[in-house]
Amino acid sequence: MNARPSSVGSSASSDYDSHGYEAFELGGFSFRRDEYFAHIAWKTRDGRPMSHTMDVGNFLRALMRDVAWSFFYGWVNFDDVIGTVNHYESVDLYAGSYNGAMKSASVDRTEGFPTDRIRAVFEQMLDNWTNDGFDPFAAPQETGTPYGAKHGNNRKAVTRARELAVRCVGLKGDLALRTDARGAPVNRAFADVPQDAPEVHAAPGFENEVHAFNLFAFLSRSQVTWNPSFTSVVKHSYMCPTTEEHILPIIHGNDRVEWFFQMCDEIDWNCADKNTGKPLARVIMKAGDMAAMPAYCRHQGYSPKRSMLLVWENGSPSLVSEIQKGESPEVPVRF
Ligand code: PHB
Ligand code: FE
Repeated sequence: MNARPSSVGSSASSDYDSHGYEAFELGGFSFRRDEYFAHIAWKTRDGRPMSHTMDVGNFLRALMRDVAWSFFYGWVNFDDVIGTVNHYESVDLYAGSYNGAMKSASVDRTEGFPTDRIRAVFEQMLDNWTNDGFDPFAAPQETGTPYGAKHGNNRKAVTRARELAVRCVGLKGDLALRTDARGAPVNRAFADVPQDAPEVHAAPGFENEVHAFNLFAFLSRSQVTWNPSFTSVVKHSYMCPTTEEHILPIIHGNDRVEWFFQMCDEIDWNCADKNTGKPLARVIMKAGDMAAMPAYCRHQGYSPKRSMLLVWENGSPSLVSEIQKGESPEVPVRF
C-alpha cells in the first residue's frame, strides 16, 4: 500500500479523461470513473490527499446493493478499503477506517451524512455510471460489460423496485406478487427444480386464510443474484431467500447475528474481523448446512454454481443498542 500523497487529490478540477461520465462529490470524498475503474479520492484525517481505485464492475455491483438495500444492516464494504455503515438515520462513508493497515497509518477518513443526502448522490452515480446492457444485479454470465466510454443507461435495471405483497403471497387480495414470479423463465442452473404447486385443502370457511406455494419454483425464476427478498415476516424475524451466483458483491460487516441456511449447491465464505479485516474463518456450506455469522465478523460468499440461500435476519430496531449495552449476545450460542 502506498501512503504517499497522491496527485489525484481533487478530481473535480483535474484534467483526467472522463469518457463522458459525471464526477461526484460527497463531503470530503470525490468519485470519478473512466473506462475500467472507479476512482475515489479523499483527504486523510490529517489533511493529506489519498485515493483508491476499484474495478468499475465490482464498484457498480456493490453500489447497486447499497442503494437497493437502503444501506443494509451495519457495514457494506465495497472492498477492503471503502464502504458505508448504516446508523439507520445517518450513514457513514469511509475509506480505510476498517482496514487495519490504513487505520494505523492514519490515511483513513470517515464522514457521516443524513441518509437522504448520501442516497441521492449514490443513486445519481449509479444511474450515470451504468451503461446500456450492463445490469449490476445480474450474474456476470447473464449480462453485458460494465466497461468502456459512456453509452446510454440501464435505468430500468438500476431502479428495479421490490415487488411488495400486501398479504400472504398467493392469497386473494395480494395483487402485487404472483408466485410464478410474473412468468419469468426458469434459470438455466435450476432446470431440474420441480415446478409443481402444493395442494391446499382448507377447511370450509378458511379458503381465503390459508395458502402455500413452491418456494423453490419461485426462486428458480429469480432474475437477480445476491438480493435477499423478505418472504416471511413474523414480528422481527425475516426469512430472506435469495439465489446466488459468482461473488457476493459486498463484504457484509454485521451489527447483529445473522443466520444462513444453504438450500442447495454450495457457497464458500471468507469471514474476517469486521474492524480490521483480519481473516477469521473459512466456512464451506453445502446443501442442508446452516451457519450463523456473529455480530463481530464480516463475510463474503463465493457461489460457483447458482445456488439457493436462506438468510435469516433479526430486524429488531433495538438490537444494536442492546448488543452495545451487553444485553444481547454477539454470538448465536455460547458453549
Ligand atoms: C449477507 O451479507 O449476509 C448477504 C447479503 C446478500 C445475500 C446473501 C447474504 O444475497
Ligand atoms: Fe451478512
